[in-house]
Formats: sequence, structure tokens, C-alpha cells
Amino acid sequence: MTNHDATSATVPSPLFPSGPSPFQSGGPEQVVYCHDEPSGLRAIIAIHSTALGPALGGTRFHPYPTEADALADVLNLARGMAYKNALAGLDLGGGKAVIIGDPAKDKTEPLLRAYGRFVQSLGGRYYTACDVGTYVSDMDVVARECDFVTGRSPEYGGAGDSSILTAFGVFQGMRACAEALWDGPSLSGRRVGVAGVGKVGRHLITHLLEDGAEVTVTDVNGAALDWVRRTHPDVRVTDAVEELIRGPIDIYAPCAMGGALDDETVAALAASVVCGAANNQLAHPGIEKALADRGVLYAPDYLVNAGGVIQVGDEAANLGHGGFSFERARKRAEGIFDTMCEILRLAGEEGVPPAVAADRLAEARMRNVSRLRSVLLPGRP
Ligand code: NAI
Repeated sequence: MTNHDATSATVPSPLFPSGPSPFQSGGPEQVVYCHDEPSGLRAIIAIHSTALGPALGGTRFHPYPTEADALADVLNLARGMAYKNALAGLDLGGGKAVIIGDPAKDKTEPLLRAYGRFVQSLGGRYYTACDVGTYVSDMDVVARECDFVTGRSPEYGGAGDSSILTAFGVFQGMRACAEALWDGPSLSGRRVGVAGVGKVGRHLITHLLEDGAEVTVTDVNGAALDWVRRTHPDVRVTDAVEELIRGPIDIYAPCAMGGALDDETVAALAASVVCGAANNQLAHPGIEKALADRGVLYAPDYLVNAGGVIQVGDEAANLGHGGFSFERARKRAEGIFDTMCEILRLAGEEGVPPAVAADRLAEARMRNVSRLRSVLLPGRP
């Protein structure tokens, strides 16, 4: 099954009949349940693919209502990481982890260290990083038990906060969309709506304002909106996502949780471009076509939000070999502009939505590069 395959049936899980089975065709290589009762750790690590190298993807700390929700999310996120890392040109497979719980209440040193020991037990098949609910300081704690941690703080040789290059990459994706639709890559005078002003959304606002865009933001967290009012008095703030979606905007940037683009949203959307940081923006297969049918250019989420994994991927690739270089990672993240242009060209040529063109390119790289391991090089994987 491909990432945006509308035709393949989902096989129900015998564990959770309402969710997908990890054993279905195109499913993950490995799923690991991690339980440490005294610290309260309940985590699931999913390795979707190691075709291109060790699986890299962040750890999400979230109060999932049920285990089935946690499993469904980690499987989706891990698959997205495999495609993201492939399209970003990294020698990394895709994986992801979720810790079930409320990060504000349940996150403790013993829990994070117990989690680190489970990641270590995978022997380098999975490298972790930050995601929603986890921060650089958490990765420093996990790294006290584990060698396969990225997104640590710069004092420990880490890449630090990956949202910096995630936002930069999303901005590059928007510039490529502007180039395709309008008269050049500049966003000057374009009306951009950002939904979610957390770590990524905040950096994104800065890029947009510097380029002369008119920015409107929304968030469910009043404190996040107050931060915007204080820091950027020129930015319009609304607490209603519907108002942002229906309002007069050119570009919609989902920067909160997954599933932002459902049937209702697509039908109401005023923007002609969707380009944002959130993972798994399409609520179900077929939404990419609905967007294309409405004439909305959708920048594939895992393509434009790859700046963060490029940042921590540089850290992983250079552990013990000179260390992380922000400039090298930034240069690479700039390439998201060219990849977005290439995807739009391929989509046009093949008559498919950009999300499908992106899947095809990622799958081709996974196939063609992993095949090279059949040529034996003594001492190398
Ligand atoms: P964050 O947790 O710092 O910020 C998310 C923000 O969205 C919060 O302010 C939250 O209040 C808000 N929010 C939650 N639900 C909302 C809703 N329904 N409507 C409006 N706002 C809502 O997370 P971060 O790191 O900024 O990530 C944002 C998205 O980008 C996530 O989907 C994440 O998986 C994705 N992403 C993040 C990367 C990173 O480097 N941080 C890398 C690649 C993807």
C-alpha cells in the first residue's frame, strides 16, 4: 500500500478491530510495545522501513484516548517518516514512537530513561528525536540511557530544536508553490493563514513577515495567541479555525495536529495553496484528489516539513564524525524548494495530484537505493 493509496482496503487489527493491522501488506517492519509499570511508561515504537538505513523519527507524548488510537497514530506517523526521509535524500529509514500519557503530568526522569533503555534495546534500528509533547531537554534525558538519540541540546553536541529548519523548509515549500502559481517565489502581499502557533508555527510567522506576507493565525491555546499578540502586533489573530479556513487567504498552513484536511474543510477552504508543517494532514485517502478537483495546490506534508528531520538527520549521520553542522543542514533544507518544483513538474506530466507524485518518487528511491545493498562491499552494510 502506498502512502496515499485510495484503493487498498485496510485490514482490521485482531488486537483492535477498529484499527489497521500492522500485518497488512505495506505495513511496518516491526512494532514494539514498551511497558515499565513503576514509571508508568507505556510506549509503542513502530519501524516502518529500514530500506534506506536506520529508522529515524520523533517521539510523540500524547494522552491518546485508547491504545488503538496510539497504535493507529504511530503506524501512520512511521510510514510518513519513511517517505519523508526517502524524499529528503537521507540515508535513513522511517520510524516513530508514541508515549501514551499527558506530558504535563506524566513526564518524569524515570519514565524518559526507561523509554531510552527500550530504544537502546533496538540496537540502532531506530533513532529517536523530539515531536509533539517532547523537547530538546527530554532528549538529553533519554540519551543518558541510549546512544540513538537526536535533537539533543547543542551543549551535548546535538542539533537542538528541529522546529527551526522545519519552519524554514515549509517556507521554502510555500515559495515554490508561489513560483508555480503566481509571478515568482516571493510571498510579499500574499495572505497566509497559520493554524497552530507552537514551536514550528512561531518560526514560520517570522519567515512570512520578513518576506512581506500578511499573516493571520489561530490556535486552541489562548497563551499561544497571546504570545503572538505581544510579539507580532502586525499579525491578525483569531480563535476560530473555521474563520481562518473560510476567510480571504491565499495559503493555508496547518501547523497543529494531523487530519486537518477533511471533507468539510476542503469544501470550505478559500485558499489556493495548502502548505504546512503538520504530519498526516490528509484525513483519509482521496482527500488529495478532492483538493486537486477544487483547484487547490496541496504541498505534500512530508515533503515540506522535512527540514526538521534534515536537521536531526545531520546530527545522526555525524555522531562521532565531527558533529552536527547547522549551516550544512540549512543548505540541505533549502533544497525543499527544488524538490517541491520537481514534484509539481512530475504531477503535471503524470496527471496526478502532487501527493501521489511525491509518493512515487519516494518509493522509487527506497527501491532503487536499497537494491544497491545486493552489491557486496566488505565491511559496509
Ligand atoms: P507544538 O506542540 O509545539 O505546537 C502545536 C500547536 O498547535 C500548539 O500551540 C497547540 O495549541 C496548537 N493546536 C493543537 N490543536 C489545534 C487545533 N485544532 N487548531 C489550532 N491549533 C491547535 O508542535 P510543533 O512542534 O510546532 O509541531 C506542529 C506540527 O508539525 C505537528 O503536527 C508536528 O508533528 C509537525 N512537525 C513538527 C516538526 C518539528 O520539528 N517540530 C517536524 C515535522 C513535523
